[in-house]
Amino acid sequence: MTDIRVLNDEAQFRAHTTVFRRAMHMPGPSDDDWKVTRPSYEPDRALAAFDGDEMIGTTQSYGSSLVVPGGAVVPHSAISRVGVRADYTRRGVLTALMREQLSTLPDPVATLRASEGRIYGRFGYGLAGRWRVVEIDARRAVIPGEMTGRVRMLDQDTADKLLPELHEAVGLWRPGQISRWPGWWARSRDRESNAKNTVTVVHSGSDGDDGFLTYQVTEDKDFKRRMSIEDFEWANDDAWRDLWIYAARLDLVDLIEIDAALDDPFWWLFEDPRVVRSKDVYDEIWLRLVDVPRMLSARTYGAAEPVVIEIRDRLLPANDGCYRVSPDGAERVDEQADITMPVDLLGAAYLGDTTFSQLAAAKRIEGTRLADADALFAVPRKPYCGTFF
Ligand SMILES: CC(C)(COP(=O)(O)OP(=O)(O)OC[C@H]1O[C@@H](n2cnc3c(N)ncnc32)[C@H](O)[C@@H]1OP(=O)(O)O)[C@@H](O)C(=O)NCCC(=O)NCCS
Repeated sequence: MTDIRVLNDEAQFRAHTTVFRRAMHMPGPSDDDWKVTRPSYEPDRALAAFDGDEMIGTTQSYGSSLVVPGGAVVPHSAISRVGVRADYTRRGVLTALMREQLSTLPDPVATLRASEGRIYGRFGYGLAGRWRVVEIDARRAVIPGEMTGRVRMLDQDTADKLLPELHEAVGLWRPGQISRWPGWWARSRDRESNAKNTVTVVHSGSDGDDGFLTYQVTEDKDFKRRMSIEDFEWANDDAWRDLWIYAARLDLVDLIEIDAALDDPFWWLFEDPRVVRSKDVYDEIWLRLVDVPRMLSARTYGAAEPVVIEIRDRLLPANDGCYRVSPDGAERVDEQADITMPVDLLGAAYLGDTTFSQLAAAKRIEGTRLADADALFAVPRKPYCGTFF
């Protein structure tokens, strides 16, 4: 019999990390590693499944916030450390953990990164945002014109102090972006300082600091030098372009590699668009609408005739019902639905990455008035998070 408990004890937190990492075929944390992992445990947010006294499964959430279309920033749970001990899989342990977690989450929306694509749809998570790998041929990369602001390099200590605050100030405008919790910074900066080669540069424009990027340059076995951009956030187009001018003009770099949103306009940045290679595209954001009425009211909508959407939610039946979505907002109604869909697919469409027409073409949803629904949920920029957890 699986028993789900909330953990609030140091030894259990460490056991939680160990069970999760073993499920991912990784060793448990060493003492040093535990020092940077411990800050990611927050009160009441780590759950574990037990068989008697043995911990057999884990999940956790970090308190964060999420940008939704229209720019509102809503409380958000970032779900992580999901794992079930290999000798207990396929017996419903994850299902029990997910049920308990969803019914007790303090936030109206949750997102996660999935190790495999078939796990989370059944729990109401939809694929809501993607990313791509972009490579720039640095030897031929020319960006016409000069910088409008200034780029300065930070030492590691200053970067550690400044970046968390700067991220909150500049990195919360695009749908899908999330605020980062203290434990995220502890792990991320440690991972980077282990490599001892991470450089941080900050951009300032007329209103002060408005963007940053962190990168490492390494040499491949064929002596090609690769600049890997690890973190890149900006508040406005000038900061984005100036930081790219800095990157493109860096000496002794053959190739620049970055994980980026699907629609950042690289093709138009460089004099020769063929220096840009847009490579593989992957799923990034899996989004769960925990409180559908609240989340539908949190975002804005485009111009179109109103559409009534019926939502079905197996795990959180309070979300079941019909919602009328119009340019003025969304409300629960008792009306005939134009479109019927499960909650995971509303999650997939929520940030604007996927359209209702695409879901219907793939026979994932049924309904009419798809073009109106597409226009209501349309967004000017593709969602992208850029924060791995
Ligand atoms: C993924 C994992 C957590 C699933 O745990 P579990 O306890 O076996 O899951 P459950 O028994 O509750 O399975 C629920 C359903 O999901 C399905 N499912 C679970 N994991 C799946 C997977 N990796 N691929 C496809 N289907 C999966 C089960 O078949 C079951 O389907 P059913 O309801 O139709 O019978 C577990 O296999 C694991 O720890 N894997 C390695 C670590 C990992 O990938 N963690 C996720 C990090 S994002």
